[in-house]
Amino acid sequence: MQAMWVRMAAGMLLSVGLAAPSQAQQVRADTLIKWRQSAYQVMTWSTSRIRANVEGQFNRDEVIRAAQLLNSLANAGMGTLYPTGTESGSGWHETTVRPELFRNQALVAERAGALARETGAMLNLAASGDVPAIKAQYGRLVQACKNCHEDLKFRE
Ligand code: HEC
Repeated sequence: MQAMWVRMAAGMLLSVGLAAPSQAQQVRADTLIKWRQSAYQVMTWSTSRIRANVEGQFNRDEVIRAAQLLNSLANAGMGTLYPTGTESGSGWHETTVRPELFRNQALVAERAGALARETGAMLNLAASGDVPAIKAQYGRLVQACKNCHEDLKFRE
């Protein structure tokens, strides 16, 4: 009896998991491309905010807010914004995604995982107010952005 409930619960979890990507596919391609481009723009807002704080007047709360936002975006499952059919097309402007992103899931997972690791480390450090450590972590974080762009994004 218990085993049956466990099986049913597992089945429900599976169907919820499968519903997520197909839901994204029902959204128009240009909207999905807009969403992903917007999310990256917000990432740039956040990395710029951290840089301004370590290079100028340091404000701990600003760094915490930026780190929280970055860590949320890095763990938001942005992969669902890249369904088949969005290899080309326009969002706010023509997509700059490379075809490689749709072919090499292992590389995407590696690059996305690296970003989430660095944003997690930044979030852990943010409250410390340790400016040299936050500055060093900023360098590792933006390197994770660059590493992914080199493989999976065309230069504008
Ligand atoms: C897992 C890979 C990956 C990581 C990590 C990543 N990006 Fe990107 N980024 C992309 C791809 C792919 C695009 C192209 C999206 C499109 O145009 O459809 C992009 C586009 C952008 C854009 C252009 C958005 C626009 O308006 O077209 C900016 C800015 C950007 N990324 C900033 C960042 C920053 C900052 C980070 C790190 C905090 C980051 N990215 C991390 C893959 C990544």
